[in-house]
Amino acid sequence: MSAAVQVPVASAPARAAADRIVTRCDELAAISETAGHITRVYLSPEHARANAVVDNWMQDAGLDTWQDAAGNLHGRTGRAGPDVPVLLLGSHLDTVVDAGRYDGVVGVLMAIEVAARLQQARAELPFALEVIAFSDEEGTRFGKALLGSSAVAGVWDDSWWDLRDGDGTTLRAAFESFGLDPAQVGQAAVDPASLVGYLEAHIEQGPYLEHAEQALGVVTSIASARRFTVRAVGEARHAGGTPYERRHDALLAAAEAALAVERICRTEQHIGTVGTMAVEPGAVNVVPGLATFAVDLRGEFDDGRDRVWDEIAEAFREIGARRGVDVTPTEVHRAPAVFCAPHLMDAVRAGIVSTGEPEPIELFSRAGHDAMSLGRVTDVAMLFLRNPDGISHHPDEFVSAADVALGLDALVGAIEHLARTSDTLPPATTAVEA
Ligand code: GLV
Ligand code: MN
Ligand code: MN
Repeated sequence: MSAAVQVPVASAPARAAADRIVTRCDELAAISETAGHITRVYLSPEHARANAVVDNWMQDAGLDTWQDAAGNLHGRTGRAGPDVPVLLLGSHLDTVVDAGRYDGVVGVLMAIEVAARLQQARAELPFALEVIAFSDEEGTRFGKALLGSSAVAGVWDDSWWDLRDGDGTTLRAAFESFGLDPAQVGQAAVDPASLVGYLEAHIEQGPYLEHAEQALGVVTSIASARRFTVRAVGEARHAGGTPYERRHDALLAAAEAALAVERICRTEQHIGTVGTMAVEPGAVNVVPGLATFAVDLRGEFDDGRDRVWDEIAEAFREIGARRGVDVTPTEVHRAPAVFCAPHLMDAVRAGIVSTGEPEPIELFSRAGHDAMSLGRVTDVAMLFLRNPDGISHHPDEFVSAADVALGLDALVGAIEHLARTSDTLPPATTAVEA
C-alpha cells in the first residue's frame, strides 16, 4: 500500500485572503471598456476606475497610497524615513483585449494581502514594503509594453510620446486627458540605491507547473523580446481582371511572411507570433494592396533572439522581392532578457518550501512581466502560480484559490527569509543597460 500523499494546505489567514482575492478579481473584471469582456488599457477611464477601487483596498489594508506621474498606483507600509531601504512588490492592472481576470491583477492583490499581513503581525522587517499596481504592462493601447514600469525604473524614453493608439491619439495627449503632466514623468522613477529589490507573483501563463503537478514555481529568467509592425505594400487591382502574373498581392505576401515566422522560430527553438493582420482596401473583389501585421518574437537570450530576427527579416525581403511587394518592418518594442537574482530566487524557494510544498521547479518565463523593467535597475525575482491548462490572455484563464493561498504563504515566507538574511544581502544592482 502506498503512503498517502500529503497535500500542503495554506494557513487560515492565507485561505481567507485568497478567497478575498478571487472575489476582487471578479470585481475588477467588471471594469472593462466592453461589457461581457475584460479590456482595460492604459490611461483609459477604466484605468482610472481600477486605480480608485484598488486604492481603497490598499487603504483598507493599512497602506499609505499615491498615484505616480505615470498612472501607477503605490501603497507603502513598514518602516518610514528617507534612508529606509524598500522592497517593491507588485504586478499590473491593465489587460490585453478580451483578457482573463488573473493576469497581473492576482499579483497586485497578493502583494496587498502580504503587506497587510506582515504589518498586522508587526513583523520586524529591516525594509519598508511598497506595493505597486503598474498601469501598463501589456502595451495593448500604444503597442509598446511596460510603459508603467519603465517610468518607475527611470528608463522612460521620450521618443515614446509620439506613439499613437488605434484612434490616432498620441501617448502625450492620452497622458494629458488622464490628468497627468508629461513633463513630470521622471517623478515616477524610484531611486535604485534605495531598493532591496522587486518581487512579483504572477500566474504562469503556460502549462509547465501543471505538468510538474506543482502549485508554485521559481522563475529563473524572463524572455528577451522584440516586437515589430510590418507594412506589406503591394498594389490593389481588380480581383477578376488581373492575371496572377500581374498581381502584387499584399495579403499573400503577409501570409507567407507569417508562415516564415513560424517555420524559422520552430526550427530555431524560439517563439514567434503574428497576432494581428489588417488588409486594405478590404473588399471581396479587390486584390489586397496593403497588409499590416504585428510580429512578437521571444527567446531566452538576446543574441539568439537577434540572430533569429535577422533570419526572419531576410525571409521577409525574399518574399517581398519575389512577389513585388514592399515588406517593411518597424521595431516598436525591445526588451532584454532579465535574469532573476540568485539570492532572491533562494528567498522565493525558501518561501515555497516553508508552505510544505516540495522543492519547486525552476522556470524560464516566456511571458513578459513588469519585473523586466525593474530588473534593469534592481534585483528581481518572481513566484509563479499554477495556471490550469496553461491558458492565459483568454477569458478561460484560471488560478485556484487554494494555489493563491499557498502563494500568499510562500511570499510571506520569502520576505521573512529575506529579512533574516538581509545583512548578508549583496548590494542591489544599479546598472541600467544601454
Ligand atoms: C505579456 O503578458 C506578454 O508576455 O506579452
Ligand atoms: Mn499579459
Ligand atoms: Mn501579466
